[in-house]
Amino acid sequence: MSPFSLTRTLPADATAAALRADVRRGLTHSPKELPPKWFYDARGSELFDEITRLPVYYPTRAEREILLARSGAIAAATGARTLIELGSGSSDKTRHLIGALESLRTYVPVDVSTSALEAAGRALLADRPGLTVHALVADFQHGLTLPDTPGPRLLAFLGGTLGNLLPAERAVFLHEMHALLAPGDALLLGTDLVKDEATLVAAYDDPQGVTAAFNKNVLHVINRELDADFDPDDFAHLARWNADDAWIEMRLRARHALRVKIPALGLAVPFAAGEELRTEVSAKFREAGVRAELAAAGMELTHWWTDAAGRFALSLSVRR
Ligand code: AVJ
Repeated sequence: MSPFSLTRTLPADATAAALRADVRRGLTHSPKELPPKWFYDARGSELFDEITRLPVYYPTRAEREILLARSGAIAAATGARTLIELGSGSSDKTRHLIGALESLRTYVPVDVSTSALEAAGRALLADRPGLTVHALVADFQHGLTLPDTPGPRLLAFLGGTLGNLLPAERAVFLHEMHALLAPGDALLLGTDLVKDEATLVAAYDDPQGVTAAFNKNVLHVINRELDADFDPDDFAHLARWNADDAWIEMRLRARHALRVKIPALGLAVPFAAGEELRTEVSAKFREAGVRAELAAAGMELTHWWTDAAGRFALSLSVRR
């Protein structure tokens, strides 16, 4: 049997249909909003990689610091024989964890990008011959089915991406993860933490304008995929801390009144001068909140690790 296999659980046209539905719903809704997953075409993924190297964007470095310090403890606590990683991308961050997981037999990277999965699978197998890589092309918010692999299993969801889901979506997602796991399996979760407003806002509004370009990239995606006529220069990038909901919001604000045509949807969308389109929420957490959300989904938090500066947390919980 080949050590690398790839399973596609996402129909080829599912992405196009989902984009159309999200754009129609979000741009006819008041206030206007779009889900953040549409940032990530090839250009958007490049811009996100650039964001992770910005001095003001601390989450990626903080999480890597924790993974480097705690991979041994994660291996000892879980004894995982299968590692499943949601949104694995290049599998960069996980390479160190995989190295530490001595009992690991199977790695299941899950991503929407086939090319990222193939490249990551090849690189990992070169590092660790004997490993079986079972890549899944799937959207983790839509009915994930896992291959039958040896337990105990460790499910990793890193990067703080949980924070891009709204609270109700998070509850659904965590319940689905519980359903995918067996009693005794573990969940490794990366969450950015609540901190002073200036640090948070700066992380989403860098002076180089990389985050602004990333935010506006969603307009390029809609132009290309739905033949729309957004002019990204008509919009200003905004990052705002919403203290009541404990999340950062990225928004695009219309610089003047305008009308966008989206022929593929038969829509003309009016924007008033100053009207804002919310393109992302990025929730920030506290230990008690993470513990409570996990408990509500049948998971018990057993370990909580932060970077030395206390900016970001990795938590390990066990599925009951
Ligand atoms: C995808 C969760 C890592 O919310 O911080 C970065 C995406 N948005 N800058 C985040 C993002 C703006 C990011 N994560």
